[in-house]
Amino acid sequence: MNIGKIHIDTPIALAPMESITDVSFRLICKEHGADLVYTEFINSEGIIRNSNKTLSKMTFSPQERPIGIQLYGSNPESMQRAAHLATEVGPDFLDINCGCWVRNVVNNGAGADLLRDLPRMERIIKSVVSTTSLPVTVKTRLGWDLQSINILDIAKIVEQAGAAALTIHCRTRSQGHKGDPDYSWIKLVKNSVSIPIIANGSLHSPQKIKLLLETTHCDGVMIGRAAIGAPWIFSQTKNFLSYGTFSEPSIKHRLSTILRHLQLAVEYKGEYRGVIEFRKFYAGYLKGLPNSSKIRQVLMTFVEIAPIIETLHIYFESIAAVESIENAHGQVRCR
Ligand SMILES: Cc1cc2nc3c(=O)[nH]c(=O)nc-3n(C[C@H](O)[C@H](O)[C@H](O)COP(=O)(O)O)c2cc1C
Repeated sequence: MNIGKIHIDTPIALAPMESITDVSFRLICKEHGADLVYTEFINSEGIIRNSNKTLSKMTFSPQERPIGIQLYGSNPESMQRAAHLATEVGPDFLDINCGCWVRNVVNNGAGADLLRDLPRMERIIKSVVSTTSLPVTVKTRLGWDLQSINILDIAKIVEQAGAAALTIHCRTRSQGHKGDPDYSWIKLVKNSVSIPIIANGSLHSPQKIKLLLETTHCDGVMIGRAAIGAPWIFSQTKNFLSYGTFSEPSIKHRLSTILRHLQLAVEYKGEYRGVIEFRKFYAGYLKGLPNSSKIRQVLMTFVEIAPIIETLHIYFESIAAVESIENAHGQVRCR
């Protein structure tokens, strides 16, 4: 599929996630095969106000390309000014958030509130498209609630307003992140517009992604929560799509991935902030491993990187040792 001049065959994208998809997480996902990455959503008003905290969210590294800066806001004029400033930062495309369900975003008329006001959604998209030389994409949901699904109207508006692609989180605003996504809408949207469609929502296994691609003919998929603590889902999915098989990461690979991610976090944020903000990733990376809650509690006490590295080495070496004993026993039993 194409986003402007960017061509990617069936992209497996990393979803924008507030406080998660910072430079270090995006890089670790890129290194595991993510084709497209986005910043977390960034408040257009904060960009205009020149807020340092907001502006810092637009930072990215060249290895992340192609990357989109995602903007949100309720006011077409503010979105236009923010789009102008975001374009100067030099991303590959801009994405407009029309799906965030969080109350304070919606109450301010942004994110999913636009699902209830399609003329304003259209004005916002047009104002961004008219001000930037970059391709503009849109990310949205099926509709406000199950009684008011309007994704077919939205898709037409998005296309006519000049957007280059549309990502659909196949839930409504009222579902939040709960309930089963309804992917059947993807096929209907595909039949009604010609811009590329990226499907999103609970895509947590290569098998599920393959089935979705085959049944809906969507142009790409976007993975969010399933990549937290498991960035290898991108390479697993690619392997499964190409060869029909994939493997689980070895203990060694798990360890090297956590260490690499942690090192990137420290590199981009400094040691103290990098270590503190990395704490939210321990649960995901250690999920399903023996005594993981105990080791997580220990890791949470550190504010420097050195003891974390040491603790992780000792922990993963002990798991590897147990695994090799179990394997040896297994081999003996088999003989
Ligand atoms: C912690 C968190 C933060 C999120 N922040 C954003 C965001 O900044 N912009 C956005 O478009 N969607 C955001 N989302 C929604 C995701 O991009 C995605 O649409 C949603 O999680 C469904 O995909 P998944 O089931 O693969 O996680 C967020 C989701 C989570 C869990």
